[in-house]
Amino acid sequence: GDISNKEEKQQVADQVAGKVRDGDVIGIGSGSTAFLALQAIVQRVKEEGIDVKGIPTSKEAELNCSVLGLPTTTLIDSKPDWGFDGADEVDGEYRLIKGRGGAMLREKLVMASAEKTYILVDQSKIVTRLGEKFAVPVEVDARAIHLVESKLEAFSGVTDIKMRMAEKKDGPVITEGGHVILDVTFDNIDADAEKDLKGIPGVVETGLFAGYPIEILSV
Ligand code: A5P
Repeated sequence: GDISNKEEKQQVADQVAGKVRDGDVIGIGSGSTAFLALQAIVQRVKEEGIDVKGIPTSKEAELNCSVLGLPTTTLIDSKPDWGFDGADEVDGEYRLIKGRGGAMLREKLVMASAEKTYILVDQSKIVTRLGEKFAVPVEVDARAIHLVESKLEAFSGVTDIKMRMAEKKDGPVITEGGHVILDVTFDNIDADAEKDLKGIPGVVETGLFAGYPIEILSV
């Protein structure tokens, strides 16, 4: 029969924990699936007494590593051997939308630094058209907000632009880097969209990930 979303997430978390080897430096993803994977990895580290270090992709992941007791390092001091992270959407060409958690800048730096990143997804994340469920988060220097909005209005495939607002306080969500996020809805995402979005002055990063060395883990 059908297994629940929660069980799917736990199964991919257990799969990735099986890949950990003594001495590994591992990029630690953000979000609920990555959290389950981190828990499973820490359990193995503790049971087997192996030496593993994490490179967190967000303040949230940093805090989780410290609460669970996984030693951490940084991209300045170490290169990740591999990493793992979740995603909001994956298409047939291994393109991702990430960043519901707003941490895409650091997530992309860690992914781009690792030889391989396992992307942990449940079936609900696998889409035929990238952008069919999620908007693409675009992290913007607040001073460039009008400039970026006007460029996005003319950008290929864009149908809607919304500033991401905080839920429990007034005003916009502010990222770890001190920037704001525009959630941009597309009816079609061109092959060059990631590069072209980054080409707009004031765009710090986007949640579009295309062409990174990833392997999808799903059940
Ligand atoms: C974090 O910034 C995101 O990129 C997450 O990886 C993504 O939103 C998936 O999160 P869940 O694992 O909680 O679904």
